[in-house]
Amino acid sequence: MDEKQILQLIEMAIKARENAYAPYSNFKVGAAVLGDNGNIYTGVNVENSSYGLTNCGERTAIFSGITDGMRNIVAIAIVGDTEDPISPCGACRQVIYEFSLDSTLVILSNLKREYKVWKIGDLLPYGFKL
Ligand code: THU
Repeated sequence: MDEKQILQLIEMAIKARENAYAPYSNFKVGAAVLGDNGNIYTGVNVENSSYGLTNCGERTAIFSGITDGMRNIVAIAIVGDTEDPISPCGACRQVIYEFSLDSTLVILSNLKREYKVWKIGDLLPYGFKL
């Protein structure tokens, strides 16, 4: 991944984020996944009045990719309106891990395009896989 590709994924996540459905937390999240099939899938958080049913933005993007046949994540960008680059929740780290390669990159950004790039193994050490 070069800088241009990283910024492209961030831009797609920021654009998708506009469609987030977050009337309860008012915290919108957008994500863009580059699969090893070469396609990019976007997703947003989708909340519910039964709060626990909420789906995070990164999981929505991954599930969209899986639906299309993607099985491995090359990179995923996640964006929120945060002071520092957003930190993904533990559940999403585990879901990313499920479809990760050793090389999978997790790009965390805020709306100012300040970003950090992590290896999934560093975000979720000793993760669970069957
Ligand atoms: N959220 C995400 O979409 N991804 C994360 O990694 C953290 C949390 C969403 C869930 C909820 O809609 C809102 O942010 C506030 O928790």
